[in-house]
Amino acid sequence: MTPPLVPDIKPVPTKARSPLGVVELVLGDGQTVKAVGVVYGLEHRLETADFEAELFLDQYNQRLRVLNYTATDVAQLVLSLRKLADANGFDKIIVMASHDDWQSFLRFGYVLEAVLEYYHGGEDAFVVSKFRSQERLDSPNLMDETLLIEQISARDVGARTPKPVPEGYSIRLARREDIFSLLELYQEIFDSYPSPLKHASYLEHIFQKESLFAVCVHNNSVVAAASAELMPSKRAAELTDCATRKEARGKGLMSHLLLRLEEELCRRAYVCAYTMARGRSYGMNSVFFQLGYEYTGRLINNCDIYGAYEDMNIWVKDLRPLQSTDGRAAVTAASSASSASTTTTASADGDAQEAST
Ligand SMILES: CC(C)(COP(=O)(O)OP(=O)(O)OC[C@H]1O[C@@H](n2cnc3c(N)ncnc32)[C@H](O)[C@@H]1OP(=O)(O)O)[C@@H](O)C(=O)NCCC(=O)NCCS
Repeated sequence: MTPPLVPDIKPVPTKARSPLGVVELVLGDGQTVKAVGVVYGLEHRLETADFEAELFLDQYNQRLRVLNYTATDVAQLVLSLRKLADANGFDKIIVMASHDDWQSFLRFGYVLEAVLEYYHGGEDAFVVSKFRSQERLDSPNLMDETLLIEQISARDVGARTPKPVPEGYSIRLARREDIFSLLELYQEIFDSYPSPLKHASYLEHIFQKESLFAVCVHNNSVVAAASAELMPSKRAAELTDCATRKEARGKGLMSHLLLRLEEELCRRAYVCAYTMARGRSYGMNSVFFQLGYEYTGRLINNCDIYGAYEDMNIWVKDLRPLQSTDGRAAVTAASSASSASTTTTASADGDAQEAST
């Protein structure tokens, strides 16, 4: 008999939610911007003689993210980031640092939170963070989260094939006409979400271009979904937006969705698949462990998800061993389970399309 699922623990708010309606952000010395509407954040670029950096001023999650940078003088970059974070009241700065200079950040009070293996086209990225408030630094459930990883990792010795897709359920890449169902699903499952996933225009914009969505359909209704956020220049993708309706959990649906996305990533010669899993979600961490992902660290109070700020565990997988020598994806449990009903083709602009056969 299958053991009962471990109950899902909702995070308890430890920090006030950020306002989104009218947002004033500081971009640099004497430079501000006022945005009206629901504003999650702004992409911003800083260029000086000492460094160049692509940033995300993340209003929703009250953090400054450095997406890409090059620096001849890390100290100057660090100083500018601190000024910008303080001016905007952001209490966390996150940098995807390179192998050559991640240790320089430690000299300025950053901490190494995780190693994102294979992230830069096969080279590791080092996730270094600086906390700017005690509130952001305090994580009340750290020990439980540590034990959860130990418990999950002790359950098995490696990747396992998930149980077959149950009869009446089908796994496929999403189509444009699924967008409304996806919105319904995400609105039902997530009280809060770190990206504008519950807004139709955002979903329409990223759909199957910047993010590949896969869905599980049962009785003409989307019961589970996940996506791969693509970073083509790095050959890396974040597996995210994972949700299964309560009544459909524990049937292996999420595992098959993620395998379907992996298969598509392999077909496109991606190297790195990674995820940030909610620190207190036994289910989410368990799914990635069972699919052969490696736990490589935890980002404290990383984002506002599922109703409050939560620690996020990083799990990483090297996709290269899954690819056959001609670059195509090797057959996976998901493709073999779904191949009877679907075929995948790539259109001229690289958009994934799926047709029923
Ligand atoms: C996390 C979540 C997506 C898992 O989806 P799912 O479709 O139930 O996952 P699967 O059935 O593919 O799980 C795969 C394996 O993990 C196990 N598992 C999943 N959730 C579990 C739980 N809560 N307790 C124990 N085991 C669990 C399954 O039993 C299965 O193992 P098995 O093959 O040995 O039976 C789902 O619980 C969910 O939507 N949670 C709320 C949203 C959320 O937190 N998303 C994550 C954001 S980071």
